[in-house]
Amino acid sequence: MLQKDILLKHNGKVYKGCNGYQRIELIESVNELCRGIEQPKVLEAGCGSGLNIYLLESLNSQIEIHGFEYTNARIASAIVNLFYSPNLHNLFLADVCNLKIPDNSFDVVYSNHVLEQLGQERAEAALKEMWRVCKKGIVVSEPSIHGANRYEKWRMNTLGYCRDLYSVAKKLPHAKVLVYKEDSYRTYPNTSHHLVVEKTP
Ligand SMILES: C[S@@+](CC[C@H](N)C(=O)[O-])C[C@H]1O[C@@H](n2cnc3c(N)ncnc32)[C@H](O)[C@@H]1O
Repeated sequence: MLQKDILLKHNGKVYKGCNGYQRIELIESVNELCRGIEQPKVLEAGCGSGLNIYLLESLNSQIEIHGFEYTNARIASAIVNLFYSPNLHNLFLADVCNLKIPDNSFDVVYSNHVLEQLGQERAEAALKEMWRVCKKGIVVSEPSIHGANRYEKWRMNTLGYCRDLYSVAKKLPHAKVLVYKEDSYRTYPNTSHHLVVEKTP
């Protein structure tokens, strides 16, 4: 955990937290969920340009990290950004709503601000896909209507973002929600909640 608040100044106001810092919480939760697993295998859904993969491998080089993207441009940038990485990564194109991956293929599956763009209905389908292909659990950092202020709610509605993945996560088969909270370094203006769900036997 970061020890100090980072202040972000914007239009004369000072905000607690700094855009992007919630990544660190996400990465630490993925690492935590992998604890006790020999040679953990994880999958990032919508890995963008590969920053989370870079952070996770910097934290724990024992984790085998795979990632996929929806667009050629994004996966190409991830491949370039991870060019000098000492580890091999399996980076591929896929749609998180319809994964051509067998059940329980990865120990942990995670996403950061990916499901948001799909709207509530497709985000629910995506969450179920992530759950299907994971063995141990999922970590997601995505917007939530819970605790959102008026502006954030307006923004989510206007952009057609997903609103509530917690109520879906609770009902996943064999699910135990370990964490559900607003990210500590509130990301302005795209609020996100940190959700960690474990599969119970
Ligand atoms: C806001 S970016 C976040 C990228 C990355 N997760 C990060 O934290 O830096 C959202 C990403 O989700 C990807 N995306 C959107 N729809 C997707 C889908 N159906 N399947 C997989 N990825 C998707 C986009 O291509 C984009 O790279």
